[in-house]
Amino acid sequence: MPSVSAHPDIMEKLVSLAKRRGFIFQSSEIYGGTGSVWDYGPLGVELKKNIKDRWWHAMVRARDDIEGLDAAILMHPRVWEASGHVAGFTDPLIDCRNCKRRFRADDPAIKGKPGTPDAQCPVCGSKGTLSEPRMFNLMFKTFMGPVEESAAVVYLRPETAQGIFVNFLNVQQSTRQKIPFGIAQIGKAFRNEITPGNFIFRTREFEQMEMQFFVEPGTDEAHFEYWKAQRMAWHRALGLAPERLRFKPHEQLAHYARAAADIEFDFGGSLGFQEVEGIHNRSDFDLGRHQEYSGKKLEYFDQPNNRRYIPYVIETSVGADRTALAVLVNAYREEEVPGESEGRTVLGLAPSLAPIKAGVFPLVKKDGMPEMAENIANDLRRALPIFYDDGGAIGRRYRRQDEVGTPFGVTIDGQSTQDGTVTVRDRDTLQQVRVAADQLRGYIAERIGPNE
Ligand code: GAP
Repeated sequence: MPSVSAHPDIMEKLVSLAKRRGFIFQSSEIYGGTGSVWDYGPLGVELKKNIKDRWWHAMVRARDDIEGLDAAILMHPRVWEASGHVAGFTDPLIDCRNCKRRFRADDPAIKGKPGTPDAQCPVCGSKGTLSEPRMFNLMFKTFMGPVEESAAVVYLRPETAQGIFVNFLNVQQSTRQKIPFGIAQIGKAFRNEITPGNFIFRTREFEQMEMQFFVEPGTDEAHFEYWKAQRMAWHRALGLAPERLRFKPHEQLAHYARAAADIEFDFGGSLGFQEVEGIHNRSDFDLGRHQEYSGKKLEYFDQPNNRRYIPYVIETSVGADRTALAVLVNAYREEEVPGESEGRTVLGLAPSLAPIKAGVFPLVKKDGMPEMAENIANDLRRALPIFYDDGGAIGRRYRRQDEVGTPFGVTIDGQSTQDGTVTVRDRDTLQQVRVAADQLRGYIAERIGPNE
């Protein structure tokens, strides 16, 4: 069970801000919403893209030992038999015969032993109406082709990893990579979760960023430790507070795993520390099973030593949506502003993750300021996502950008039209410096730094 966090529960405030400012909306909201499925709005899509770009850069572009892949969501149904998902990707479920609700068997709100007369439904309160637990598979099923029959069943993938395993030799042979090397991909995954919730923390449609690193058996433990350290460093580099991050080794291992550890982030409130990433030593389980089920050899030929073997796999698996939530929770703060009666809400996002990099504001709508501001905005827009705002008091315009995490506010004032300089306000320190308008693009780009 999660421990209650020292950090406050800000989820409700975050959900409201996310909707109001265009980060995240409930899916199909005008129809009453779809359970635990979310849409990313104009700012949310930028934030999530920045996170994914950051991962892709660290895992693929900046290394010569990892290759990228984009495998299809629909795969041969035998893949999921080989992976163990058809037989084992299940949760025990309880039904209430009275109110028709479903619960996970380990739901702490259930009183008594389900299936017995004294067990009580946590929603309608009826006694004796809860069924015994039965296993429920979390994979979404659909049909391929025009006929809805059992032979045509395919699944929406519940993880991206299997697309990597089945392409192991395609990638290795086409790139001539030598072990150790990895394959990485970002893509959608689907799980018919019984207890989704906590906003985008656990949803039924989500994005994973997964990497499988293929290693020689016997070297797997050292690679496992290496990847644990690399991945923790990545989360810290996103700006997540170090004290809100920790490792959690798995005490009970999945059937495929020789070792496993989660990276957990403290989401605050009663949610507390929860997994954002899993790092697993999967041994030769996956390639071995696909070799068995497909009848195709998936061995690596180690030329210098003239031997063939099935590599072991170290997997790093992180949710893009869950990371986005961690980044938002970590960034959210409400604070007083010295010398002002109104406080402010700030998303203290790392500048490279911020959806908008700079707000551009003419101080007043006259004396040549709007014209100069528009020229500056057009110039900046060629390189950076920016927002032009000439409406209302300048303080309010700053606040609107603080709330969505925009790191810089560029104001064109009376002096600007005289000497060609503008003020640049720092979101966090509130300090303002004067910068020559023709130096602005370079100045802001340098302050943002690379997205890596
Ligand atoms: N291939 C291994 C694998 O899928 P997992 O621990 O089931 O492992 C890895 O998932 C990561 O995917 C999690 O740490 C989490 O960030 C994300 N994830 C899993 N289920 C999710 C869900 N229902 N909603 C959002 N993210 C999810």
